[in-house]
Amino acid sequence: MKICRLSVKRMANYAGLSAQYENPQPHPCDLALGQVFYTRGRQPAGLCDSAWATLSPFVMALGNGAAGLYDGWMKDPASAMVSCNDGFRPVSFLVEALEEPLIRPLEPEDAGQMEDLPFAAWQSPGMAFVAALGGRIVGFCGYGPSRDEDKKGFGEIDSIYILKGAQGLGIGKRLLDAAFRELLPGLGVTVWAPKENRSAIEFFENYGFQADGAEKSNHSGKDAAIRMVWNSREDLPWPI
Ligand SMILES: CC(C)(COP(=O)(O)OP(=O)(O)OC[C@H]1O[C@@H](n2cnc3c(N)ncnc32)[C@H](O)[C@@H]1OP(=O)(O)O)[C@@H](O)C(=O)NCCC(=O)NCCS
Repeated sequence: MKICRLSVKRMANYAGLSAQYENPQPHPCDLALGQVFYTRGRQPAGLCDSAWATLSPFVMALGNGAAGLYDGWMKDPASAMVSCNDGFRPVSFLVEALEEPLIRPLEPEDAGQMEDLPFAAWQSPGMAFVAALGGRIVGFCGYGPSRDEDKKGFGEIDSIYILKGAQGLGIGKRLLDAAFRELLPGLGVTVWAPKENRSAIEFFENYGFQADGAEKSNHSGKDAAIRMVWNSREDLPWPI
């Protein structure tokens, strides 16, 4: 199924109706104008049940290739403008079915699009791939030769980050695939994963990395990281 982008385009608030009919609400709505979610059919984290109840049939239809809903309602046939079912403060979402993410090398002109991605400023063209989804950069992966003395001949993933709303869609794996194509043949690939970041460690384990026991932290003992290694196997079809 295609990835759909859900963008918050308008947030109304009928204060008069609320004053007359509604009990006080501690968290009436946690959405923000401009907020964006991506989904392959599952309710995205942070999107409330009320919004998902009305959006999900459109996501299912558009994500599975339907187009031109309601006889040409939308200018872009693979989209729909749908609001959540909160009658006091309806939120309008643009739902768009997108082409698969494009994984390509980082270009100097991408810099302006990467402000939301931590560590992106450190990435150099020629040493990083980006993932473009629906015309936006939603992730990157920086790579190069291993910086560890005892890992000469290995490549290294020095950072990988996917925007929160676009995680879990297979983009991180495709970025690793692209970096691996550059780093191998070679003795293998290393990555330093934050020790407390269970989710990243499991992601790398899922890809075939294993912790090799090496650990490091900065001068104050913070930012502890463990080294994970993907070793080239003997049965790979290139000489080591
Ligand atoms: C960690 C991160 C890069 C993963 O990227 P992602 O796009 O969310 O992951 P994907 O959707 O590509 O997942 C690929 C595979 O890993 C698995 N996976 C991902 N996260 C997982 C987790 N926490 N536990 C187990 N498996 C996991 C997926 O199930 C999927 O498996 P499959 O190929 O068998 O279906 C991303 O979540 C991220 O940017 N996190 C914040 C930054 C970060 O922690 N960076 C790493 C610091 S070194």
